[in-house]
Amino acid sequence: MILFTPGLLLLLLLALSGCFSEVVDDFLNKCPQFFANPGKTVCTPTVFPDKNRYKQICQSLYEEQGVYVYEYATLYDTANKIPVYSAYKFEGKIDCTRDDTWYFEPQLDNPKAEGTMKRDNNADLLSNQAVSKDYIKSRFHKGHLAPVSHARTQECSDATFTLTNAAPQNGSFNSGKWRVTEAKVAEILEEKCAGNSRYIVTGVVPGTKKINNRVCVPSFFWTAYICLDNNQQDAAACASMSEVFTCI
Ligand SMILES: *[C@@H]1O[C@H](CO)[C@@H](O)[C@H](O)[C@H]1NC(C)=O
Repeated sequence: MILFTPGLLLLLLLALSGCFSEVVDDFLNKCPQFFANPGKTVCTPTVFPDKNRYKQICQSLYEEQGVYVYEYATLYDTANKIPVYSAYKFEGKIDCTRDDTWYFEPQLDNPKAEGTMKRDNNADLLSNQAVSKDYIKSRFHKGHLAPVSHARTQECSDATFTLTNAAPQNGSFNSGKWRVTEAKVAEILEEKCAGNSRYIVTGVVPGTKKINNRVCVPSFFWTAYICLDNNQQDAAACASMSEVFTCI
């Protein structure tokens, strides 16, 4: 079952360029660098009006001299307990070690907590996010949105292992078609967009099933990229949903 219409493609590209929302948000104050600015327009990333439900996260694993180091940005749905999307810049492939240490975002459940992600360590269930325990008895993988294979540093790769960047994903899809899609995007960006600024947004469409009665299983995974040249003009753009890959 594939739902992929020109309208949807447009939506994905609007999500990417960000000229979709009228809500002013934190992403732009704290980590605007992960969102494309085509035509030199400062665009607001897509967010939803319900700011209690949808939380904007500038993903950070550590501080450097008292300043959070941001690796990518995630819009997180605290009701479905999965991300809406993760946005990041692609800087070329490197070989990262998969640490497989999972983290969660303490500030989602305690606004006064520190801003860096914390080790999951079999944490108790939390009200506003998924934890590893939610996945244990399910047959689903913790499917990355911002993937290890696109990380620009080892720290960035480690920072992708947060539950706020993951959604329940079918294992054979994860290691099959989706892995191929991630590899194909990286290959295109390295070959066709060398020297450009390369932005990627990867998201999910929520489905109707839940694991552990808490965490929504997406019906689709989608990804889209845009390459901008030195004048912030579109050099190339592409979007893909689950299996279909369409370039415009
Ligand atoms: C994953 O997909 C395969 C192939 O479509 C299917 O046989 C399997 O049951 C699915 N696994 C889960 C956990 O849904």
